[in-house]
This record gives sequence, structure tokens and C-alpha cells, in this order.
Amino acid sequence: MTEAGRRLRAGMVGGGAGADIGKTHRYGMRLDDRYELVAGVFGRDASQASRVATELHIPEGRAYAGFRQMAAAEAARPDGIDVAVVATPNDSHFAIAKAFLERGIAVVCEKPLTGDSATSAELVRLAEENGTILAVPHCYSAYAMVRQAARMVRDGALGRITFVDVEHASGWASTPLELTGHKQAQWRTTPEVAGFPSVVADLGTHAYQLARYITGLETDELTGQLQTLVPGREVFDHATVSLRLTGGVTGRIWASMAATGHNHGLRIRVFGDKGSLEWQHEDPHHLSVQDLAGTTTILTHGLSTLSDDAARLTRVGLGHPEGFLEAFGNFYRDLADELTARRDGTPSTIRELSFPTGIDGLVGVQFVEAVAASHANNGAWTVPASASLQEV
Ligand SMILES: NC(=O)c1ccc[n+]([C@@H]2O[C@H](COP(=O)([O-])OP(=O)(O)OC[C@H]3O[C@@H](n4cnc5c(N)ncnc54)[C@H](O)[C@@H]3O)[C@@H](O)[C@H]2O)c1
Repeated sequence: MTEAGRRLRAGMVGGGAGADIGKTHRYGMRLDDRYELVAGVFGRDASQASRVATELHIPEGRAYAGFRQMAAAEAARPDGIDVAVVATPNDSHFAIAKAFLERGIAVVCEKPLTGDSATSAELVRLAEENGTILAVPHCYSAYAMVRQAARMVRDGALGRITFVDVEHASGWASTPLELTGHKQAQWRTTPEVAGFPSVVADLGTHAYQLARYITGLETDELTGQLQTLVPGREVFDHATVSLRLTGGVTGRIWASMAATGHNHGLRIRVFGDKGSLEWQHEDPHHLSVQDLAGTTTILTHGLSTLSDDAARLTRVGLGHPEGFLEAFGNFYRDLADELTARRDGTPSTIRELSFPTGIDGLVGVQFVEAVAASHANNGAWTVPASASLQEV
């Protein structure tokens, strides 16, 4: 097969036995058959990692003991990986992503991109300097009805935007789950791994990216309040943030892992002077749009009247459910288009509403830092470092 015709070769760090999100990346990569997973370090435990590699049919010699060895070996191979997926807990993102980017290998790095904005900016710089791509899987922006919402706001369907309200208020850790041996709860409540404003980094960054993606607005200043609702927990598990956005628009973000009784709990509402819209992750097929008179129109995934941005993300017809795995698939398809274009020297495929990059990851980390700084200063209005990015 010619270089131009082949699938992209992918590797993964993380996603071992019992891990959460790594397998979703693997499902997402398979949906359009644009990638083959050929290398990896599937967890910290060597024997378990080797078993997972066997189950995934990783070729002999490409299940590595560590990410540094993997990056060096894959960069040296004529058939080395095109992209490395980093699906490990937060504290290891920087070192792993750096090892691949500095060798010119594209990286998909989970959120939050890193633990501080200096290291996030360094990853963005490394990707640029090495002529490669750093992408961050804020998968919610890859839902068809989120793209529809973003297109409608961009096209002025709601008129002048006045207010944005996002909540990623989940109830999964409303009890001290970390004391029961729950792996994901343990690292998410360990400040050295997750950062002390843990819930802002974990769920707040998703909510923030969704607000930016749909409205195209950035933050001039914010005020944040952090709380620990579960007694004894060492990180903040509940956050409320008020935003002053571009052009005087205001916004509100609520991120919680202790919203008792909630499931995933992601919802966005955008208000304008002509109408408003609402999208909820647990009903992803529908986008509710209200006009000035209060009439509600429910737009449905798969309708022939949706925008091209939404229609191109619809895999099966009207009435057939699609969800989280397809959103990851959409993220990976947009990324594959661009990686392939760069490999083959064809024009860039990046469109206005495309996949989140390292810049979005950096802006997310700057948001986390600004919320933490505001909280530490008794909720003072704080200018996130991303405000200066807007002026560049
Ligand atoms: N985009 C999303 O929707 C989404 C959803 C969930 C989690 N995440 C992010 O994904 C990351 C992983 O979260 P998770 O819940 O899957 O964690 P997890 O604890 O379930 O899995 C982490 C995996 O990484 C492995 N690992 C850790 N350090 C490693 C290293 N140095 N080398 C190789 N493997 C290593 C662990 O053994 C485990 O297999 C986090 O940053 C989290 O914020 C994103």
C-alpha cells in the first residue's frame, strides 16, 4: 500500500486493565477505520499491560515498558506511529506528551492538558516547532447537536448573545468513594495528581470549552468559589464561577463531582436577544431552541434541515441513537482528516468548527488557574492569562 493510502498508525499510553477513558479512545478510533493501534504502554503494571497489549493484538516488540522507550523506538522506526494518545492521570500528561511532540509525533492528550499553564504552553510551542498536531479530546464539542448550536450562534440565530450558563454537575463522587478503593476517585482526590481545584480541572474544563466552542466568546475576567462538599476530601469537589465574557456578555459555570443524585450532569444554555437554546449530554439528540414568544422548537439529530456542520457528524439516520462513542469517533475523524492532509501534502482540512487543539487545552488550564487564584483571593475578579492570548 502506498504511503498516501494507508491508515494512520496510533500508539497509546494509559488505557490499561480497569482504566476508564482509554478504551473509549480505542472505540472512537475504530469507527471510521482510519487508524490502526500498533504500539503502547497499557498501564503501569507491566504484566497487566502486556496482557492488554496481547488482547489488543499489538505487534511483537511494540508493547513497551515505558513511554520514553516507546517514543524513542517509534520515532526510529520507518513505520513508527503517526499519533500518540495520552490517557493517563493528569500529573503525567506533560512528560508523556513532551516525549512524543519533541520527536515530531502528533499527540492526543487528555484534559486537563497539564497541571499548570507554563507546561501547557510548552506543549503548544513544541507542537508548533516540530510541525505537528497537539489535540485535546473535549469530546462534547464533537456531538452533532453541539455543532448545530455553535453554527446557529455563529450565524446569529439567537441575536446578540447575552448570557451563557453551563453546568457539569455530576454526582458520581457524592460520597467518599476514594476511601473504598475506587481507582478513579483515588487519583481525582489526590492533590498532587489532580491538582487541588480538582473538579475545575476535571469537569470545569469541559464545561468551559463547551461554552467557548458554542459561543466563540472568551473570558475577560472571572470570579470563582470552590468548596469541598464531602467532608475530609483533600481537593475541591464543587465550584461555581461567574464569567465576564467578550463584549460584556456574562456567564456562569457550575462544576461538581458531588451533585447528589445527578448522573453525568452536563448541560448548556445560551441566551440571546432573539432566542435561546439548550443542550443536555444525557439527551444528546435534541437541541431545544426557544424564540422571543416562548415557542420551543426541538431540533433532532439526523434532520435534513440541520447545518452541514451537524449533518457531517451524523452516521446513522434520523431516530437512531448516537452518543459518546460516536462523539469520540467524530473527534478522531476530524483529526484523521488533518493528519492525513499533512502527511500527504494536501490542503489543510481545519474548518471553523473543528477539533480542540493544544491552545484549547492551554486556555482550559489558564481557566483552572484563574478560578483557583480568585478563590484564594476571596472571590476577587481575576483576569485569566488567556485574556492576553485574545490580543495576540
Ligand atoms: N475526555 C473525556 O471525556 C475524559 C473522560 C474521562 C477521563 N478523562 C481524562 O483521561 C485521563 C485518564 O483518566 P481515566 O479516568 O481513564 O484514568 P484511569 O485511572 O481509569 O486510567 C489511567 C490509566 O493510565 C495508566 N497509567 C498511569 N500512568 C502511566 C504511565 N506513566 N504509563 C503508562 N500508563 C500509565 C494506568 O495504569 C491506567 O491504566 C485523565 O486525565 C482524565 O482527566 C477524559
